[in-house]
This record gives sequence, C-alpha cells and structure tokens, in this order.
Amino acid sequence: MEFTFLTANKIVFKSGAINELATHVKSLGTNFMLVVDPFFYTSPTMESIKKQFDDAGLRYTAFGDVKGEPTVELADEITGIALKSGCDAVISIGGGSCIDAGKSTAALITNGTPAVDYMEVVGKGKKVTIPPVPFIAVPTTAGTGSEVTKNAVLGSHIMNFKRSMRSDMMIANLTLVDPQLTIGCPKRVTANSGIDAATHLIEAFTTWRETPISYGLCISGIELIGKYLRRAYDDGTDLESREGMSAAALIAGMAFANSGLGAAHGVGMAVGIAYDVPHGEACGIMLPHVMKLNSPHVLPKMAKIGEMLTGKRFASEQEAADAAVDFMFELCAHMGIKPDFKHLSIPKEEIPALAKASFGTSMSSNPVQLTQEEWEEYFTTIM
Ligand SMILES: NC(=O)c1ccc[n+]([C@@H]2O[C@H](COP(=O)([O-])OP(=O)(O)OC[C@H]3O[C@@H](n4cnc5c(N)ncnc54)[C@H](O)[C@@H]3O)[C@@H](O)[C@H]2O)c1
Ligand SMILES: [Fe+2]
Repeated sequence: MEFTFLTANKIVFKSGAINELATHVKSLGTNFMLVVDPFFYTSPTMESIKKQFDDAGLRYTAFGDVKGEPTVELADEITGIALKSGCDAVISIGGGSCIDAGKSTAALITNGTPAVDYMEVVGKGKKVTIPPVPFIAVPTTAGTGSEVTKNAVLGSHIMNFKRSMRSDMMIANLTLVDPQLTIGCPKRVTANSGIDAATHLIEAFTTWRETPISYGLCISGIELIGKYLRRAYDDGTDLESREGMSAAALIAGMAFANSGLGAAHGVGMAVGIAYDVPHGEACGIMLPHVMKLNSPHVLPKMAKIGEMLTGKRFASEQEAADAAVDFMFELCAHMGIKPDFKHLSIPKEEIPALAKASFGTSMSSNPVQLTQEEWEEYFTTIM
C-alpha cells in the first residue's frame, strides 16, 4: 500500500465563525486581498467583516466582481489589483468560483501572471515554484470542496477552455467553514452544489485509487448526503441540514483531492463546458448513470453506498446496490436535475468530440474503463 494525503493546514468548522474572521486570519497577513462573491459583497456581514478588520488594524482591498465560473483573465485582473495594493494574503469568501479565483491569485502574486501559462494541457507547462501568499478559503456553497483542494479551475471565453492550475502549494492555509453562510443559497445552487458533493463522494469511494483515508472520509460523507441533501433543498433555513451538507462537501473535497474522481466528472465536465451547464448539474446528471454502469464491477462498494444513503439494510448486495442507483435518480428528480442530457438536443455528429473530451484524470480513475467507441455508443442512450 502506498499513498500521500494532503489537505488544508487548518480547518475551522463553526456556525457563526465568519464573525471571528479577523481573529483567525491575523497571524497570516497584514494586508488582505478579499475576493468576495457578488451575493455577499453588499451584505451586512461584509460590512461587519470590514469593521472587524478595521478594529484589528488589518488592511484590505475587496474585489466583488466574480461573475460566473472564473477565467484566467479574471485571475490576472485580481492579481494586478492585489499587487498594486501590496497585499500579502488572499481571502476568498464565496462559492467554488470565488474560491478558485482567490486560490489562483494567491499563487500568481508570487509566481507571476499570466494564469494561462500554468493551465494543465492548454498552458505552457509553467509550474508554481514559489510558495503562494497565505490563502484563506471561506465557502458559501456546500459543494465543490475547493476549500481543501490544491487546484483552481479556470476557463477562458477567448481561448475556449476550462482547465486546472494545480500545485501542492496552492492548498489553503486556513479553511473556515461557516454553514450559516449557506442559508441564503437559492434552491438551484443548493441542488447543483449538493449533487456535486455527492458525486465527489461516490466517485472517490468507488475509484480504484481509493485509500484507507478516503474510504473512511467517504463513508462519513455519503451518510451525510443521504440524511441532509434533500432536507437542505426542501428547507434552506434548516441549519442542521446546512451544517450536514457543509461537512459533507468539505469531507468530499478532502477525499477526492487525494483519491480522484470518475466518469461522472469526466463526461459531466466535457458536456458542461461544451453546453454551458453548471459544473454540479452536469456531473449530477451523469452520476446515477455512471453508478449503474459501474455497479456490477464494484458491487460490494455500491451496496455499501445503498445502505449509507438510505440508512437501511438489504437482503442482498444486488438489492442494496440497486437502491443506491434508485436513490440518486429519485433525489435528482426531486431537485429538478434532469435524468439525462436529451434536453440539450446535442447533435449526433458532436458525440465523438464529446467522448474524446471526456478522457482525462477523472475518467482514468473510474473503476470501469470504456474505450472512446464504447462511450460514443453509450452516449446515444443518454444524449
Ligand atoms: N477547485 C476545485 O477543487 C473545484 C472542484 C469542483 C468544482 N470547482 C469549480 O467550482 C465552480 C462552481 O462552484 P459552485 O458550485 O460553488 O458555484 P458558484 O461559485 O459558481 O456559485 C453559483 C452561484 O451561487 C451564488 N452563491 C454562492 N453562494 C451563495 C449563497 N450562500 N447565497 C446566495 N447565493 C450564493 C454565486 O454568486 C453564483 O451566482 C466551477 O467553476 C467548478 O469548475 C472547483
Ligand atoms: Fe465536482
């Protein structure tokens, strides 16, 4: 057995922790670049953060214009502002988009722009060699796990890609999870980010790259998904379920960052990028299909997932595994996540390119390996 495990240096999980932000970050910098989600930028909590920083004698520059999923151009822009203001640390408060924008900024401040040079596959192969300035992640969606991962997903509308900038050094120095921040998430965001976390957990559990650490994390996280995702979607003000989902998303990030994902992310990312479907929704549409496809090859694990999601015991592994797949199809239907990609009316001639684009690290971590031709054939049933 052989594995490495990397996660954020420190994790603070507490409802209301945002009211102690300055106390938690003051040892990490003196002049902070605050990358703040637009929904949060004009909130009373943002005003209270400014007061906390003023009272603590900490300087800051706030950027509140992360619109949509972030781009390399945006990362360069924020880095320019941070350098001009002399910032020595970065704090992201927001969804995965905002966290990735801040995470890349922290690395670009010390290693230099442009961000595109560092992007996997499409970049110039430039590496992050100088430690980034301290980075603090405060998630406001319970989904991506970016608060504990070492990559930032950035796209480009100009160059038409969505890829990762990745380094062990980019992992957050401090992750502050305050589930109260997710209370205001609209239903659509709760559904998409929640199903993203569910996909991370189920893929990290079934991948052949599983480790004893990710195994334990996924057991805990999948149980939380079964208990709380539907509840958080039905009643966004239910703090217990928001706490459960914030913990599930965090645990999922710790697991998949070290063990990898699977075909739901491989295909979901390819379709999401080509047809502008939000990341979580695209992966969530694929999830029950991939579970069904993988099930015969990882039956004991799929059976365990069925037990954890439903909280029930079954007469046979097959029944438990079927219950896992059914649970996910039903949960997606309940949350308005489509059962396939047919609503996108993807032209048949696009299928080979989509199948090709699905291949990458996630796909190679899937427990079942299909050829490109086999995927093309499979796509005709779901696209
Ligand atoms: N780096 C990683 O490890 C990793 C992993 C998975 C996904 N991602 C990336 O993360 C991005 C998606 O992040 P996401 O799913 O968190 O969505 P998001 O950050 O794009 O946010 C979705 C929407 O919800 C709003 N929002 C966020 N929190 C809110 C709140 N508490 N109340 C009200 N509105 C709120 C945002 O303003 C935005 O309009 C994608 O770019 C995806 O590729 C990164
Ligand atoms: Fe994801």
